[in-house]
Amino acid sequence: MQEKIQQLIKEVESYIVESAEQLDAYKRKFTNKKGIITDLFKEFKNVPREEKRTVGQLLNTLKTKAQEKLKEFQAAALANNTQEDRPDDLTLPGDAHTLGARHPLSIVLNKIVSLFEKIGFKVAEGPEIEDDWHNFEALNFPPNHPARDMQDTFFVQRNPDWLLRTHTSSVQIRTMEKNQPPIRILSPGRVYRNEAISARAHCFFHQVEGLYIDKDVSFADMKQVLLYFAREMFGDNTRIRLRPSYFPFTEISAEMDVSCGVCNGQGCNVCKYTGWTEIMGCGMVDPHVLDNCGIDSKVYSGYAFGMGVERIAQMLYKVPDLRLYSQNDIRFLKQFEKIQ
Ligand code: DAH
Repeated sequence: MQEKIQQLIKEVESYIVESAEQLDAYKRKFTNKKGIITDLFKEFKNVPREEKRTVGQLLNTLKTKAQEKLKEFQAAALANNTQEDRPDDLTLPGDAHTLGARHPLSIVLNKIVSLFEKIGFKVAEGPEIEDDWHNFEALNFPPNHPARDMQDTFFVQRNPDWLLRTHTSSVQIRTMEKNQPPIRILSPGRVYRNEAISARAHCFFHQVEGLYIDKDVSFADMKQVLLYFAREMFGDNTRIRLRPSYFPFTEISAEMDVSCGVCNGQGCNVCKYTGWTEIMGCGMVDPHVLDNCGIDSKVYSGYAFGMGVERIAQMLYKVPDLRLYSQNDIRFLKQFEKIQ
């Protein structure tokens, strides 16, 4: 048996394979389950005790060599294949790839984020499938409160407590539950509302939420930050105006308008002859909301604001119809190629 194995080792060592068929034959003979090596291992139990050690070692050598050789053959076959697939003329020009453009909403979103990052805001994100607590209850919308009607909600059938978030304000709650002030975050993201799709409304859109909580934060601090934002975004001559409003999670609440960039506040058809365009909601975070998240409202105060990205892109690029953002029409998207 020893001689037989030695013979086989030699055979493996000098084996040559030049085609796929020959490779198959090699496998059948040596390395397959039904090959000769398996047979030898079966015969091993009949080997007399005093020979077991030597024969065992030889057998193992044969097995390893056969495997190594197989790997060698397979690697060579692979290299050969790629060679065959190559075009004859390696100097042929490659396939041209046209570069895509950034989506206008991404351009605007990135700009908003970088403006706020400059003044210390950090991006925080949350899930798009939310629970009632984070989207409504903790933000001071009790069950059955009419303010829930302000946001037509998509619910998730599998669990009545789940819904598609109607605003990014839910990220405020998630952040405040996990962190103590000072908190200064910006949360960009997609939100959903059960609206009929038209030029002016869509069932999903994008918002950026801001939140700043610390000791002695005032409404005046918020005004200054929002003025900075408006001027950086729409130009140095931009003016802002805050009108009283209502949101369950802020007290006091306001809506912010910016002077119309098209007519410079004189009145035109874009601003419907008012000279102003509304761009966000804002206000001082309601003390109940702070307490809901385990932040002591007697010690801390803060402001929050939320804006729609589509609306701002519409103002900057004069987009006449909300649906254009999600139709993937290349003629629309191509116009933003040059803008970073
Ligand atoms: N969540 C509001 C909405 O979707 C927007 C908003 C208003 C966010 C006021 C705020 C805020 O943080 O203070 O309509």
